[in-house]
Amino acid sequence: MTRIVVTRRPPGSAVERLENAGTVWTWPEDRALPRDRLLAEIREADGLLCMLTDSIDTDVLDAAPRLRAISTMAVGTDNIDLVACTRRGIAVGHTPDVLTEATADMAFALLLSAARRVVEGVDYVKAGKWQRWEPALLLGAQVHATTLGIIGLGRIGTAVAKRAVGFEMQVRYSSRSRRPQVEAALGVEHRTLQALLEEADHVLVACPLTAETHHLIGKDAFRRMKPTATLTNIARGAIVDPRALEWALRTGEIAAAALDVTDPEPIPPDDPLLTLPNCVVVPHLGSATVATRIAMADLAAENLIAGLRGDPMPACANPEVYRRQERR
Ligand code: NAP
Ligand code: GLV
Ligand code: GLV
Repeated sequence: MTRIVVTRRPPGSAVERLENAGTVWTWPEDRALPRDRLLAEIREADGLLCMLTDSIDTDVLDAAPRLRAISTMAVGTDNIDLVACTRRGIAVGHTPDVLTEATADMAFALLLSAARRVVEGVDYVKAGKWQRWEPALLLGAQVHATTLGIIGLGRIGTAVAKRAVGFEMQVRYSSRSRRPQVEAALGVEHRTLQALLEEADHVLVACPLTAETHHLIGKDAFRRMKPTATLTNIARGAIVDPRALEWALRTGEIAAAALDVTDPEPIPPDDPLLTLPNCVVVPHLGSATVATRIAMADLAAENLIAGLRGDPMPACANPEVYRRQERR
């Protein structure tokens, strides 16, 4: 009998679909599955549907000798030891594409919020301070017709670039490889990270968290940025060094920041970043629309069902696992 562990109940009918593929155990509580419980429940599991909050490392894999397929309800896989999964022949599914546009919308909402001081304005009104219209109240930075620097022009970065074209922005990007088709289609230009940071009026982080990108944006990066610039992070918190960000926002190295993701996550309520008026923080809402989360859950279920059957997953994060399986 196939046993499937689901670490949080996703929206929509994903769990019902999985029930057609095996016996499903779902963590019933409204909080992340505790580590010891994951280690206990995974023992007999053939399949795992997990969240980005679950750390799937070699301890979890060692505890799960039957595990054949993992599916995360996210596109980012930095919480999963992909190399160890591949070595064990475990396919890992993720959810690219279905969340790209919703996440790009949120990136733009955050960029606009930071530049145009939306949250400060809301707080001002709620505090009863709005007495009259003021010619110089809460003046922010232009967004339209400025330069946007995107770090990581992948699916989400490209979707943000499309929005930026509508705002008549010039778009620059940095990444390890060039995207000639996107450059031609949208008129975006490649830059080194250093040049991008110096040129951009607004910087967006949209690359994966890897050993290479951990704390990629630290003091050196903030020193290069314009004092009027904003930083938006839609990717993963640890790509930005939070203490360097606090320093940059306090000293005016940059003007404002907007974070969908933090390091650590959740951000502790006493983190000094939360006291800074020029820092907007929302709780990892990039893909948080009803339709997108259901689409992610459905794709996560499809990935797991395919993986358990031994079929190629619709969206596999470690496709090299199939080449390995063929060699067996
Ligand atoms: P993607 O299509 O794989 O794009 C990632 C891009 O980052 C690629 O173009 C890659 O290009 C680039 N990149 C990789 N390493 C880099 C580096 N060292 N410097 C600069 N660029 C680098 O992924 P996606 O679907 O757009 O998602 C991107 C990330 O967003 C995910 O990994 C996830 O962490 C995050 N995310 C967050 C939310 C949210 O709710 N906030 C939602 C979805 C995704 P090269 O390989 O050429 O460098
Ligand atoms: C969300 O952060 C994701 O990676 O899908
Ligand atoms: C502002 O509301 C204006 O009319 O310029």
